[in-house]
Amino acid sequence: MVNTLTTAAPCRLNERTYMELIVPYVDALQNMLYRIEALNKDFSRKYQNDPIHHIQSRIKTAGSIDGKLRRQQLEATIENARDNLTDIAGIRVICHFIKDIDWIVNIIKRQKDLIILKERDYIRNPKPNGYRSYHIVFGVPVYHTDGMDYYPVELQLRTMSMDFWASMEHRICYKKEPRQPMAQEMLVEEFLGYAKQLEEIEAQMERYCEGHSR
Ligand code: GTP
Ligand code: MG
Repeated sequence: MVNTLTTAAPCRLNERTYMELIVPYVDALQNMLYRIEALNKDFSRKYQNDPIHHIQSRIKTAGSIDGKLRRQQLEATIENARDNLTDIAGIRVICHFIKDIDWIVNIIKRQKDLIILKERDYIRNPKPNGYRSYHIVFGVPVYHTDGMDYYPVELQLRTMSMDFWASMEHRICYKKEPRQPMAQEMLVEEFLGYAKQLEEIEAQMERYCEGHSR
């Protein structure tokens, strides 16, 4: 009998190499989380409400790092991962409204010891499928015994409605095996429609918060 199941390739990064690779990324991630939480607390103290609804963070798994290097036809080495991946450390900040995202982005970009490695405003320029979020990859200084290096941390900022859409789209469509062309096209259209509806609902709700100062 022919086996039609595709088996995932074994992970080429062993535990030791993976641990060695991620150490500075864990530090960079903690550093960024601290900055974001401090901003949220300060805002909360001053204006009695939080711009951030919740924060998620993760370090990419060994399998996921290996998969991305494999797709780029690269060997699974620490150097290749450091030189080619900017999303080993990732933070997702979920806010209530777009104005909260703008506030965080503007303020964090003023922190002089961070460098900006990549910035994509998919809120003003959504992806063709309707995906919206604000992405910034910061270079975060990590100090070690013989100096300092910047390590990338990918920050994704979204409203709750953008997060709802992206989670569903990720579950149902993102980087999945293509379906029948017709079914695929209909699904993409449907998700584009949902993105527009959610954007309208959110804008309507934001109107109730107008006048709220910052
Ligand atoms: P990845 O290889 O997935 O990391 O994407 P990329 O390196 O080409 O960068 P990009 O800015 O396009 O996407 C970074 C991340 O944003 C992804 O890993 C997802 O978390 C999210 N993302 C980007 N596009 C989409 C999308 O169309 N749908 C969903 N659900 N998430 C997306
Ligand atoms: Mg990624």
